[in-house]
Amino acid sequence: MTEERTFVAVKPDGLERSLVGEIIHRFERRGLKLVGLKLMKVPAKLAEDHYGEHKGKPFFAGLVKHITSGPIVAMVLEGKNAIALARHTIGATNPQDATPGSIRGDLAVDIGRNLVHGSDSPQSAAREISLFFSEQELLHAYEKCSHKWTWE
Ligand code: RTP
Ligand code: MG
Repeated sequence: MTEERTFVAVKPDGLERSLVGEIIHRFERRGLKLVGLKLMKVPAKLAEDHYGEHKGKPFFAGLVKHITSGPIVAMVLEGKNAIALARHTIGATNPQDATPGSIRGDLAVDIGRNLVHGSDSPQSAAREISLFFSEQELLHAYEKCSHKWTWE
């Protein structure tokens, strides 16, 4: 498994429900390292670009409306196999199918209020990180002393 970076965002429902700390805590405890973090409102253009793969689908307008309805917390997480690891920690897209223990499986009910976004491939991760963060906003060469206790 290679070390990767992934883009994760707590959606406006997560902020509205005061779940930001809980959600970040789960990624931290999983062993993923924060290398970028910010609170922001998503402009419509950015939301449409970010979710461009879903343009034309029946839920697209509602999805863009939701993601622009309030602030999000955008972050970049780094670690071994970070993209898949974050997706497993998040759980299935529809919270009704999400395994207990995952964020959506423990905390969400509806597909349109599923709390978190996570990149689904290395290509998506690279694209989404560059959409939301400038290079200057990301930390590089930052080592935690505790790394050896999480990663072999
Ligand atoms: P995300 O992109 O937000 O991390 O979620 P995902 O990969 O698990 O799911 P994706 O297929 O990329 O869908 C993006 C978001 O669109 C909403 N959605 N609604 N009503 C529907 O059938 C439907 N399908 C998808 C969800 O909020 C999903 O997270
Ligand atoms: Mg997706």
